[in-house]
Amino acid sequence: MQPQLIAGNWKMNGLVSDGKALAADLLALQQGQDGVNAALLLCPPAPLLPLIGDILRDSPIQLGGQDCHAKASGAHTGDTSAQLLADIGCSHVIVGHSERRADHGESSAEVQDKAMAAMAAGLTPIICVGETEGERDAGRALAVIGDQIAQSLPDGAGPERTGFVVAYEPVWAIGTGRTATPGDVAEVHTHIFGLLSARFGAGAAQETAILYGGSVKPGNAADLLAVAHVGGALVGGASLKADDFWAIARSCAA
Ligand code: PGA
Repeated sequence: MQPQLIAGNWKMNGLVSDGKALAADLLALQQGQDGVNAALLLCPPAPLLPLIGDILRDSPIQLGGQDCHAKASGAHTGDTSAQLLADIGCSHVIVGHSERRADHGESSAEVQDKAMAAMAAGLTPIICVGETEGERDAGRALAVIGDQIAQSLPDGAGPERTGFVVAYEPVWAIGTGRTATPGDVAEVHTHIFGLLSARFGAGAAQETAILYGGSVKPGNAADLLAVAHVGGALVGGASLKADDFWAIARSCAA
């Protein structure tokens, strides 16, 4: 079985000195210990990517973008292509984060286009889905997630693997300190796994990591990561502290 993926989403946080220190601290933790059974990924703000990439070079810690454009190049001021992310050493890119969907009005169709562009560039997109509090309270969480999955996921890369990662992030749990219960996570992840199996086949679904995100901390990580069909975590706030991020990574079962 592949190790769980622990991805740090730094969002729009930190200056050059902060990013350098955080990456160097994580590298020191990674080099000093060999007990972590997880794949690690850092997604810093776009201008820091080459710098953090230099620090992580030759280490097993991977680099990812927080967003990409659906087009390979062109007149798109302020955007970054998936090809450029790949060229500067990224392995992954987050697409369809709820903050992008809300702040930039990104539709699931656009997220699907971005995911396809990422895969065409050789990146693994981390495709985010998740319901709002109102949708959960109205009993619509699984329906909303089902629609997002249907519309945001591209066709898979083949019968053995889809080539992407899915992240379930309930909007009400992001940055709030509130986490979904292991029971909620089990229900949603089992649902997503069923949808992936139906669309891509059981083999490809098994190979597709389904991350949980939303206030993952050292104190709750072990319980969340132990839930069936949880393939890792997408970590925001706690990824800005090296010790916390490392403690989360150490929570992955051996
Ligand atoms: P959080 O963010 O860990 O700060 O809740 C998670 C995310 O938005 O990916």
